[in-house]
Amino acid sequence: MYIPSGVYDVLTDPRTVITGDRVQIPFELDRALYERLNNLLREIGGRWDGRKAVRAHTFPFPVEDFMRESLASREFPSHFDQGWYPTPPSIVHDILERAAITEGMSVLEPSAGTGSIVGPATGRGAVVDCVEIDQRRIHVLREQGAARQVTEADFLDLDPVDREHGYQRVLMNPPFSTAVQHVMHALGFLDDDGTLIAVMPEASQWHSDRATVEFRELVALAEGEFIPLPDRSFAPSGTYVPTVLLVIEAEPGGPLLTHGWHQRQPRQLDLFALA
Ligand SMILES: C[S@@+](CC[C@H](N)C(=O)[O-])C[C@H]1O[C@@H](n2cnc3c(N)ncnc32)[C@H](O)[C@@H]1O
Repeated sequence: MYIPSGVYDVLTDPRTVITGDRVQIPFELDRALYERLNNLLREIGGRWDGRKAVRAHTFPFPVEDFMRESLASREFPSHFDQGWYPTPPSIVHDILERAAITEGMSVLEPSAGTGSIVGPATGRGAVVDCVEIDQRRIHVLREQGAARQVTEADFLDLDPVDREHGYQRVLMNPPFSTAVQHVMHALGFLDDDGTLIAVMPEASQWHSDRATVEFRELVALAEGEFIPLPDRSFAPSGTYVPTVLLVIEAEPGGPLLTHGWHQRQPRQLDLFALA
């Protein structure tokens, strides 16, 4: 998202203090400019703290580095760009009930946000590894301290074979715009008898592009199920996109390209290494 002039001028004003987890503007702004600045800081993840000792926007991550990069490029990744819509607690509850987590069960959350699923899953005894692309949310996940492993990466760039083991459960709410791609990739991290549960846009059930059609064919072969979620389930997170839960249970010898399937593929010989 582009940082418009006006707001940019305030943020780069030498009197503005951007340090640690806060942005402080120690001078008067007119109402309209303040509103624009406030909206932008909220979009980045900040909250106005009016207490006398603070009187600043505070952030759940170190905003200084983030601001330096954003001001240098005059843009920052918005909620919309990254499909950042945290899963509301009632949906997390539904996911975890269906996942039937038992003590010590291994779980992957491959687009973990700020840990809406990670926290409650560990609360039920799961051992969770997670991946997230955004450095702000990575910081929150590390502060949360619930996951065994927090990886800052583009999940789609990770190779399942680099992980020694698959996961008994993959629980995910990926960005809606690339949900099919994320779920297909996530199957590669699932144990041969594991279960994947994903929040997906309802449109995954009728989009007619080739990737989505092939995805639905695979879901049907694996006897996966699309379960409608109540209307406006994601309204608390700021979107009315209709959503479903996809539940797929893998089985040994089944049609899914699971972690085991990837491991069983012959490795390509590095002929140059032998020479
Ligand atoms: C819809 S939000 C859901 C967050 C979290 N799963 C939850 O349930 O609250 C999607 C998350 O995916 C992250 N994301 C987007 N693209 C990604 C990618 N390629 N690899 C890893 N994470 C990604 C976004 O930053 C965002 O935090």
